[in-house]
Amino acid sequence: MNMTVDTSTLRQLDQAHHLHPFTDLQDYSEHGGRIMSRAEHIYIYDSDGHRMLDGMSGLWCCNLGYSQKGIIEAIYSQLQELPYYNNFFQCSNQPAAELARALVEVTPAHFNHVFFTNSGSEANDTNLRLAHRYYQLQGKPEKKLIISRKNAYHGSTIAAASLGGMGPMHKQTNGLDYVHHINQPHWFDEGADESPEEFGLRVARELEAKIEELGEENVAAFIAEPVQGAGGVIVPPDSYWPEIRRICDERDILLIMDEVICGFGRTGNWFGCETYGLEPDLLTFAKAVTNGYMPLGGVMVSDRISDVLLSGGGEFAHGLTYSGHPVACAAGLATIQALRDSNVIQTSGTEVAPHFQARLRELEDHRIVGQVRGRGMFAAVELVRDKGSRERLAPESEGAVFCRNTANAGGLMVRQTGDAMIMAPPLVCNTQEIDSLVDMLGEALDKTAAHYGV
Ligand SMILES: Cc1ncc(COP(=O)(O)O)c(C=O)c1O
Repeated sequence: MNMTVDTSTLRQLDQAHHLHPFTDLQDYSEHGGRIMSRAEHIYIYDSDGHRMLDGMSGLWCCNLGYSQKGIIEAIYSQLQELPYYNNFFQCSNQPAAELARALVEVTPAHFNHVFFTNSGSEANDTNLRLAHRYYQLQGKPEKKLIISRKNAYHGSTIAAASLGGMGPMHKQTNGLDYVHHINQPHWFDEGADESPEEFGLRVARELEAKIEELGEENVAAFIAEPVQGAGGVIVPPDSYWPEIRRICDERDILLIMDEVICGFGRTGNWFGCETYGLEPDLLTFAKAVTNGYMPLGGVMVSDRISDVLLSGGGEFAHGLTYSGHPVACAAGLATIQALRDSNVIQTSGTEVAPHFQARLRELEDHRIVGQVRGRGMFAAVELVRDKGSRERLAPESEGAVFCRNTANAGGLMVRQTGDAMIMAPPLVCNTQEIDSLVDMLGEALDKTAAHYGV
């Protein structure tokens, strides 16, 4: 940060000119926000000097925290060597080629090709292009419908917003008419009196019913996050994924796993599809591939699809100026190197994540906690006024907003989705740091309960 500019001037500039993502624009222009100024390890600092333990890994991306010198040096040295060149017109660059190979090594064996984008949203757009091209090349151009889930988040371009199932986004978007949605496996909110396993099977079978309704000959793919992240860290019941797998295996439709959050260690394995024993045909990644330090996303393309694309399919008419950007790919390569060298996915999956989940489960005894759910290094804590009836603490998710603001003020960056407090701490946290995260959340819950008179 340029220290000659003071915080209040920065705030004024920002409020006057900067339209922020997913923000009430009038409110922000009137009240402004926090100017983040630096970060180190798992801590972020704003320009007032307020320090917070980052319980969200930025926006689910800084899985290795903020002090990865190897990634920073790789970015700097790539900028000096080849700061940019495109990958169109029979050109490539060293980091793009090497990262493609590294991604093939860390993803399941049936992935041997990658298409690079700059973001998760663009990667999901790319999935649609790939799925449609795959079926066109097979002489089945009518197979173009996509099935997704309500309350899914797949990004914010028109295609990604259409794929997603976020009500407020659909209200503001004229989305794609070939995307259809089924219910999400959110037992706490929608399971009523069913057991989690019954509920999981029932909502999985909605996929079967939807394919029958639309006609298998018209459906190209089903897209889903292994665990819905932005929707509220929705961990599906154990019965859910095996049933989806059965349905997909029995039919000629593609399974697209959006691993933009789950990828690179979040669920305790390199990828969420490994955690759930799934073999997707396309796998979306972004965020943690560069530890959030550079924008990069992409799609891992399985042999089933690449075999068709590579067998005389001609030009794939899709690409982005920065597909395979050398600096972003250098960051990706250094990130994979750091993940491998530190063995952090294994350590966090087997030692830190069980501690994180166990400590959070202790909060289930708290008077305003209705459910704690999670997998690996991410979790949600649902707030209620009444545990039995699951009555919410306050209308319009006000209770969770209050709790989030209280936690932030107390030194913990957590997020709120609906009535749930959401956490995805960096994988590099140790157990003491996890203890301090849970303690700070506990204090915020106490203050929230007192505020609402529970
Ligand atoms: C599962 C999932 N897919 C896609 C995206 C979109 O990624 P991006 O914001 O990089 O476009 C996100 C972003 O949070 C995500 O969580």
